[in-house]
Amino acid sequence: MFGKNIIRMLELKRLHYQPATANTPILKGVNLQAGSGQPTLIAGASGSGKTTLVEVISGLSNPQKGVIYWKNKLIKARQRRCISGVVFQFPERYFLGLTIAQELRLGHRRLSGESQAAVLKTVGLSKVDLRKKPERLSGGQQRRLAIAVQLLRKPSILLLDEPTAGLDWSVRYEVLELLAELSKEQILIVVTHEPELFKNLLSSTYVLKEGKLWPMSKLS
Ligand SMILES: Nc1ncnc2c1ncn2[C@@H]1O[C@H](COP(=O)(O)OP(=O)(O)O)[C@@H](O)[C@H]1O
Ligand SMILES: [Mg+2]
Repeated sequence: MFGKNIIRMLELKRLHYQPATANTPILKGVNLQAGSGQPTLIAGASGSGKTTLVEVISGLSNPQKGVIYWKNKLIKARQRRCISGVVFQFPERYFLGLTIAQELRLGHRRLSGESQAAVLKTVGLSKVDLRKKPERLSGGQQRRLAIAVQLLRKPSILLLDEPTAGLDWSVRYEVLELLAELSKEQILIVVTHEPELFKNLLSSTYVLKEGKLWPMSKLS
């Protein structure tokens, strides 16, 4: 499953998770190894537990059973929150800034011009007018802005929940190119219920089914 340039860093072993408010477990023995180099793609039908898995990996929830290792050491939820950046589904619904510049500065009051320019370049938004409202950006640009906000936290693990949901076809390809690029720098975990969209993206691909992750060969 791992190519030459992929370094294993995150390991999930036998994770079981049942939210207090659920009658049955959602994750029932999830195993995963992920590294940087190429995206880790997790496919799964609606309701299969993809968002729940993102919450567990990023430390927003704690599994009842199983272990999570980071660079061969056990890592607690609080530490996972520190090293993770999560872009939830439809992140543009949660923009708070009156301008794009403000959106980037939320939580980064002393954001330097250099860091700002660098992150905008990474996500391909160098040319936008930062005084614009975030809502004035196109759908694809709004997703890029949401990713930029998380990149400013310099996460070691970037998790994207349904990054292409609700985007036009043309824009979806924009986002896919960005994903390939981003996975070179940090672990990138993408969950989706539309894996066929990602068929041209070189990735380690799994399917979440019956509470477990199964390796999936690329769709053709
Ligand atoms: N906090 C919760 N309490 C009760 N049920 C939940 C909770 N979170 C998720 N679920 C249920 O667990 C299943 C998986 O949810 P989710 O992780 O959102 O799936 P996906 O993202 O793959 O669509 C769904 O049936 C959902 O209703
Ligand atoms: Mg979901």
